Amino acid sequence: MSKLKIGVIGAGSISEVHLNAYKSNPEVEIYAICDLNEQRAKEKAEAFGASHVFTNYHDLLALPEIHSVSICTWNNSHAEISIAALEAGKHVLVEKPLCKTVEEALQVEEAVQKSGKLLQVGFVRRYGSNTKILKQFLDNGELGEIYYAKASCLRRLGNPGGWFSDKERSGGGPLIDLGVHVIDICWYLMGRPKVKSVTGNAYNRLGNRSNIKNLSFYRAADYNGAVNTVEDLANALIRFENGASIMVDVSFTLHAQKDELSVKIYGDKGGAELEPELAIVTEKHDTILNVLPQVDNLSFDFVDAFKNEIAHFIDATMGRKETLSPVQDGVEMMKMLCAIYESSETGKEIVFE
Ligand SMILES: NC(=O)c1ccc[n+]([C@@H]2O[C@H](COP(=O)([O-])OP(=O)(O)OC[C@H]3O[C@@H](n4cnc5c(N)ncnc54)[C@H](O)[C@@H]3O)[C@@H](O)[C@H]2O)c1
Repeated sequence: MSKLKIGVIGAGSISEVHLNAYKSNPEVEIYAICDLNEQRAKEKAEAFGASHVFTNYHDLLALPEIHSVSICTWNNSHAEISIAALEAGKHVLVEKPLCKTVEEALQVEEAVQKSGKLLQVGFVRRYGSNTKILKQFLDNGELGEIYYAKASCLRRLGNPGGWFSDKERSGGGPLIDLGVHVIDICWYLMGRPKVKSVTGNAYNRLGNRSNIKNLSFYRAADYNGAVNTVEDLANALIRFENGASIMVDVSFTLHAQKDELSVKIYGDKGGAELEPELAIVTEKHDTILNVLPQVDNLSFDFVDAFKNEIAHFIDATMGRKETLSPVQDGVEMMKMLCAIYESSETGKEIVFE
């Protein structure tokens, strides 16, 4: 059987991880790569054996033999490229966040419905092995009903600059970049309850702190310390119709002693921590137990999760599995994220109808 031909649009940092995952999948052939930056596209094509290189994604989508695409561009083009790809008859794996606004998200959802093609949102943490283990406990009712989740993703110094810090291209700062992951994973583990209301705060108090010396941090290729239009800290309380709630805080910079990543969920029969390490808390015979699973990876394994995500995407395009992260979940996430920004701007709780 001939291999499924794959196109990758956006050939920057994260595309490398997609490309490595495709490379290790025996069912696919990395066929075409597109980037506004031709040099970058050429280099990736050479490294991964793609025979076609483009700077305009429409040209890539015009190839009838392409079966599926990964969209790894800046957030401001996710909706536009997803819609064009679906209309061209391609299955789509689009990086998180699905897009920048709820309006765009609904347009993408409509395009999915019209095209009958698959769109998987890059909520890669859903595909992590620690998530899969915990999900089995949840699906078997071991933690009861999850009524509270708490997540933090705090960088003391880590505004990557470039497009990340340009609100026009990114849609926002740590909330849309990091918050999207941790809110999503809590919401997914809680069973995706319907969101009822959101209250949040976004602060731009410290800027990007490009003045800091003697402490390194990840910078985008086109870093420019003078440009920063995104928040540096955001927090939120999200309430759901079933009474459950999520509390979250995320930052690109904060006067904190150290970085922090934590994802915790609490149910009426037990609790669990997914990050920094998988742990389960329960009660037996009037005694509280902290249970430590004996597994290879207690934390999120980046490379392994992307491999799983892409294998799952290919399976879903072939009708062998349902995607774990459908477009509808991308839309719901955009509702939550945009409501947090709106609540911060208006100083009010945003209530959904
Ligand atoms: N899932 C994750 O954990 C994860 C991690 C990092 C980034 N991301 C997401 O991946 C996306 C890309 O991030 P990155 O870190 O790779 O950024 P990057 O800046 O390294 O790469 C983005 C590339 O897209 C290209 N590009 C932008 N618009 C384009 C267009 N219209 N057509 C063709 N090429 C275009 C740019 O030239 C650049 O080379 C973002 O949406 C980001 O949120 C996800």
